[in-house]
Amino acid sequence: MTSRHRSSMLPALCTERLALSAFTEDDAAELHELFADPRTHTIGSGPFTAFAQTSRWIANRMATQRDHGLCWYALRRIDTGQLIGNCGLFAGRTGYAEPEIGYLIAEGHRGVGYAAEATAAVLRHCHAVGLWRVWAGIRPRNTASRRVAETAGMSFDHVEVDERGELMFYAIDLAPATDALSA
Ligand SMILES: CC(C)(COP(=O)(O)OP(=O)(O)OC[C@H]1O[C@@H](n2cnc3c(N)ncnc32)[C@H](O)[C@@H]1OP(=O)(O)O)[C@@H](O)C(=O)NCCC(=O)NCCS
Repeated sequence: MTSRHRSSMLPALCTERLALSAFTEDDAAELHELFADPRTHTIGSGPFTAFAQTSRWIANRMATQRDHGLCWYALRRIDTGQLIGNCGLFAGRTGYAEPEIGYLIAEGHRGVGYAAEATAAVLRHCHAVGLWRVWAGIRPRNTASRRVAETAGMSFDHVEVDERGELMFYAIDLAPATDALSA
């Protein structure tokens, strides 16, 4: 079923150093290198032990794009073409109309601003396609991710508790100012 609040994101975006492209099955082998690496895939059900887990992950993202217009992008360095991470949107715990943003950068490429660059581009694009509130659910101990959210202009909103403990929810309001709407 497609979503009522459908915003169709573009399948490709670009930043100064990164090419962002919606994942396809062609990315599976490279993405699996990241997802199978315990130093990189430290969240959710990572690290993946089977290639089928990465294939399924991509298939789920492609279905979300097809049915709900939300994209999850492969991040490639423009200078080398290398896949160095991912960033995108999913319904998560907040739903398709106010989705969650997620990101992951390969361990050897951290600390040089790639996550900040990608999240800024994705959030700018959210504003452009009318996704006016975006969330990030982050474990309290994940200082790096909290800092990425804050750098992107997101603010702490509330805490929820699930089976794995506390989850801090950050949000950003991307709606145009009311006077801009009425101008
Ligand atoms: C979170 C993650 C994506 C950050 O990627 P990154 O490319 O290294 O982040 P950036 O270089 O863009 O840094 C953005 C900001 O976070 C800060 N930061 C990055 N890593 C940090 C760390 N380990 N501790 C404290 N601050 C950190 C940077 O200093 C920068 O802050 P600034 O704006 O004040 O300069 C990366 O650590 C990662 O992939 N972690 C595993 C996956 C994950 O946790 N995803 C989020 C799930 S909620």
